[in-house]
Amino acid sequence: MYKYVINGGKRLSGTVAVSGFKNAADGILPAALMCAEPVRVENIPNIRDVLLWLDIFRDMGVKVDMLRPGAYEIDAGSICRDDPPFGHMRQMRASYYLLGAMLSRFGKAAVSMPGGCDFGVRPIDQHIKAFEAMGATIDIQGGVIRATTPDGKLHGAHVYFDVMTVGGTINAMLGATLAEGQTVLENCAREPHAVDVANFLNSMGADIRGAGTSVIKIRGVEKLHSCAYTIIPDQIEAGTYMVFAAVTGGDLTITGVIPKHLEAIIAKLRETGVTVDELDDAVRVTRTGTLRRANIITLEYPGFPTDMQPQMAALLCFASRTSTITEGIFENRFKYVSELNRMGANILVSGKTATILPAERMTGTPVRACDLRAGAALIVAALAAEGTTEIEDIIYVERGYEDIVGKLTSVGADITRVEVSHD
Ligand code: EPZ
Repeated sequence: MYKYVINGGKRLSGTVAVSGFKNAADGILPAALMCAEPVRVENIPNIRDVLLWLDIFRDMGVKVDMLRPGAYEIDAGSICRDDPPFGHMRQMRASYYLLGAMLSRFGKAAVSMPGGCDFGVRPIDQHIKAFEAMGATIDIQGGVIRATTPDGKLHGAHVYFDVMTVGGTINAMLGATLAEGQTVLENCAREPHAVDVANFLNSMGADIRGAGTSVIKIRGVEKLHSCAYTIIPDQIEAGTYMVFAAVTGGDLTITGVIPKHLEAIIAKLRETGVTVDELDDAVRVTRTGTLRRANIITLEYPGFPTDMQPQMAALLCFASRTSTITEGIFENRFKYVSELNRMGANILVSGKTATILPAERMTGTPVRACDLRAGAALIVAALAAEGTTEIEDIIYVERGYEDIVGKLTSVGADITRVEVSHD
């Protein structure tokens, strides 16, 4: 077990490169299992979620060769089972994409109910609805989702999602890719990583049109073929480093980004008085004056991303006036607030809205990360708080942020990764 020890008050400055997008990799890696020929995927981030995928692949008899850091050749030609061992799957939510991938290729699947960050109830009813519409019979018992099809194939269907679900959209696309006939998905999520998964599938020979809009049409194909694909940059990692720069009054250039994917984050940071210069594939973030308040509602893309909600709440603790954040996607994504309040924050949560009053003083203290972005929020606060903050349960953070200690240290943060002693 490890913890981060952070001494606050250091201005970040310099350049940091963003890694491949975790949530795109979480969809693209299982999608690679749908192809019986080797595929090459680049810009895969070196994070715990990816290591979990590679463990699942090896358990399934998938050949995985690392060509160089971040680039893998995945050969699922000799896949030996469609019911991967459940241990690893329980540790991340994205394991539910194995349902779509295995159903698509083999017409049956057995997958453990997903784990992942706890923001209240996170149903998968829309995933199930899509697969049942495509002809699958789904049985959920003992934490295992078993799916079968009468003739070994899914069939095209017309699915209207009751909620705009990223996971549901991606999973249904996986299922429809090798189904018999055409599928139309309506009320789809438009997140860039849903588009990235569609582009990856199309580079393997799938026939998917409309990704990035609310209607996606998929014409099933017989089989997929080899390809080489590069994953998009992680806009949430980029946004998190933008907030690191803002909270420390720093001057940081974040490279390897797609500025268009950052529009909502850039707009909100500018509202707080932060300067953001957009370059071709980079953004430069500087903050010299006081932080102004902001009111945020998290929404589906292109709205303000829920995955940046905790980080912005931590930043707004340092603002000169009262801000509000309303969580428009998840049932309860404010569990991290109690830890920020232990550092001196003054955040009141009522239902789906957090009211963030200006903190008198933010001071370092031992805290715990309760999920991936909550951990990022604690780092935001620790970087600007007075004194030393120790953050435990950093395993959550390392699920989604590649080399965060190395990257932060390279731009002036005082952060070390220390083994937790159980004395
Ligand atoms: C993905 O989760 C991301 N995870 C999350 O990122 C992100 O917060 C979320 O999308 C929203 O953008 C991955 O991509 C691995 P949803 P997902 O299905 O797919 C409800 C991070 O920090 N819903 O879009 O699980 C659901 O309860 C993680 O990187 C249903 O009701 O999110 C939620 O209220 C955290 N039924 C809303 O829809 C369903 O069948 C959006 O969920 C599915 C979802």
